[in-house]
Amino acid sequence: SSRLPWRGKNVLITAGPTFEPIDPVRFIGNHSSGKMGFALAHEAAQRGAAVTLVTGPTSQETSHPGIQCLRVNTAQQMLDTALEHLEAADIVIGAAAVSDYRPATVADEKIKKSEDHLSLDLVKNPDIIHSLSKRRKPGQFFLGFALETEKEAEHARAKLSRKGLDAIVLNSLRDKGAGFGGDTNKISFIDKNSELTPFALKEKSEVARDILDEIDRRL
Ligand code: C5P
Repeated sequence: SSRLPWRGKNVLITAGPTFEPIDPVRFIGNHSSGKMGFALAHEAAQRGAAVTLVTGPTSQETSHPGIQCLRVNTAQQMLDTALEHLEAADIVIGAAAVSDYRPATVADEKIKKSEDHLSLDLVKNPDIIHSLSKRRKPGQFFLGFALETEKEAEHARAKLSRKGLDAIVLNSLRDKGAGFGGDTNKISFIDKNSELTPFALKEKSEVARDILDEIDRRL
């Protein structure tokens, strides 16, 4: 119906940070709040979609019946969980702030303080949205995010094409009120034809509406 225009659609969303363990009590993580991913999940569910939200550790909660919220810690767990839901997805959104690296080994016991210097050996994590888009089926739509500090549009377009996406949401760190933690965001939507649509600074719930409208227009 017109009230539930996304009824019958499956939407897969990654959200939040990932935590990569160093030892039983420590991890490498980041300050992603998960708010943008949860706002997208909520907006898609409001439109009638069946949403699978794979989220890293965050204080965000959801009780929307249209959202299946799957909580994970690491990038590898996020990838494995997303892969289980990829086939059914019509739209895949990578809103997670994935740790690019993880400790090469996880210490069994708490690492003791001893020398003045301690080095951690890190290995690259899989790129989740790229791994998913490599397995794309005809008709699936892939959206990523890019947080850039310089040559924003150029870097975002390169990221879109490198990761095999249909579109990318650009957050500029230059814009006050955009990005991590806050309740507002200022984005531009860039599609694979390089068309760039800028938006004003808004609440993340409204940003989610703009993003889904832009996706809708391209389905
Ligand atoms: O390469 P960069 O981290 O700037 O790309 C950001 C986009 O890629 C976001 O959509 C993010 O969710 C996704 N990403 C990912 N797995 C990674 C790194 C980034 O899915 N390991």
